[in-house]
Amino acid sequence: MRNTSIDTVTDAVLASISPDTSPRLRQIYGSLMKHLHEFVREVELTPDEWLAGIKFLTATGQKCDAIRQEFILLSDTCGVSMLVDALANRKSGGATESTVIGPFYTDDAPEIPLEASIASDGKGEPLIVRGRVTDAAGTPIPGAIVEAWETDGDGYYDTQYEIREVPDCRGYVRAAADGRYAFRAVLPVEYSIPTDGPVGVMLRSLGRESMRPAHLHFKVSADGFVPVITSIFVDGDTYLDGDAVFGVKSSLIEPFVRHDSAEEAAAHGVNAPFYTLARDFVLVPALVPASV
Ligand code: BEZ
Ligand code: FE
Repeated sequence: MRNTSIDTVTDAVLASISPDTSPRLRQIYGSLMKHLHEFVREVELTPDEWLAGIKFLTATGQKCDAIRQEFILLSDTCGVSMLVDALANRKSGGATESTVIGPFYTDDAPEIPLEASIASDGKGEPLIVRGRVTDAAGTPIPGAIVEAWETDGDGYYDTQYEIREVPDCRGYVRAAADGRYAFRAVLPVEYSIPTDGPVGVMLRSLGRESMRPAHLHFKVSADGFVPVITSIFVDGDTYLDGDAVFGVKSSLIEPFVRHDSAEEAAAHGVNAPFYTLARDFVLVPALVPASV
């Protein structure tokens, strides 16, 4: 179409989509174009502002590499990750609530024996985590995989260090026959999401918070069940209501209890003070596709 105008360019873009395009792609791309054009009209975006936006997205891509994922950070800080997650998990069926996976998940976490530590020595204050994995009726799920990852006591993930020979502060255990799991970790601390890239520029320009409340990430999965990606947040944290990525849910806040007894600590093979977290997880069965 020639001679497009403020009023006709949107329809021209929609009409340019091939009839062979899948209905879902047509719906997603078409709606995106309508909203994007409407946004440009609504704010009367100037050429300089549009170029600034293009430069921002370019810098976001350029900041990404095999480890750093600035686009996930952008999605998280814009609340899009939580929105997509909320839509996907509208009907939880009683499963543990989910929250953002964030940009620091890696797929190389080692399996460790029950009761062992996901963190190497000296990474923070000792934490002992225990609980059960069950279905919504409370029936144990033996062999469920409980994977956890977290920052060290200084607030950095292993992937944020220049040298990362092996994964640290991440690992997984398999639940026992009664659904019980246990592992050691370090007490989670509040930390700032990375602000040395375009997302940091965005947060500062908007006078926004960059901190996340202290949390321990979990991915809990078992054959035949819908996996849950979630985090458990430390009760009383300053940032529970100011999370930079809007990821806190009340059902995911737990007390991390401090213990000062040296004898108790020795019995657990740690130094005092140490902390304990008791937390169960509920999985729901995956839908079995109808047989053909
Ligand atoms: C995290 O908790 O690891 C995280 C989540 C979103 C953005 C940055 C970090
Ligand atoms: Fe985190």
